[in-house]
Amino acid sequence: MTILTLHLLGSPMLRQRAAPVATVDDAVRQLVDDLFETMGAAKGDGLAANQVGSPRRVAVVDVGEDNPPPLVLINPRIVQASDATETAEEGCLSIPDMYGEVERPLAVTLEALDRDGRPYRVDVAGFKARAVQHEIDHLDGVLFLDHLSAVKRGLLLAKWKKARKGQPGYLKEVTPEPAGEL
Ligand code: NI
Repeated sequence: MTILTLHLLGSPMLRQRAAPVATVDDAVRQLVDDLFETMGAAKGDGLAANQVGSPRRVAVVDVGEDNPPPLVLINPRIVQASDATETAEEGCLSIPDMYGEVERPLAVTLEALDRDGRPYRVDVAGFKARAVQHEIDHLDGVLFLDHLSAVKRGLLLAKWKKARKGQPGYLKEVTPEPAGEL
């Protein structure tokens, strides 16, 4: 398994709509394994393939022992979402150290293919549901900051610009990060 390089805010890859996976082959399984490895090294709770420069509809979620098991999301889609919503703080491995309050459905029903290409359906709730929605957003080229008000997004982007000053490009080699980022 390989720890892959992260694409940060500013990379066009993060704004690209990822392409569906036609066949779950060894290359896709390798990508899944590398996503888990990279997410683990970065101490994230989820990671989508376009965050590592591979615009395919593949993502992983692992919110830890509080809500197992980890999920492999290949061609994932939300087929049902609760009317009840929850607003909570979100971060993103592609936008390190930036956080915002995002309102999302509290519970969703997810359909996807697993690592063996088998379709499955699962109900998830709470933080795990948030992580799944965040990762599917990534596959559609959407970032958590897109859910913020224009004012809050502007503040976050100004803070990001300041934090990134003097750091060229938008690639980041993974080194241990504080926990709690998606
Ligand atoms: Ni993210």
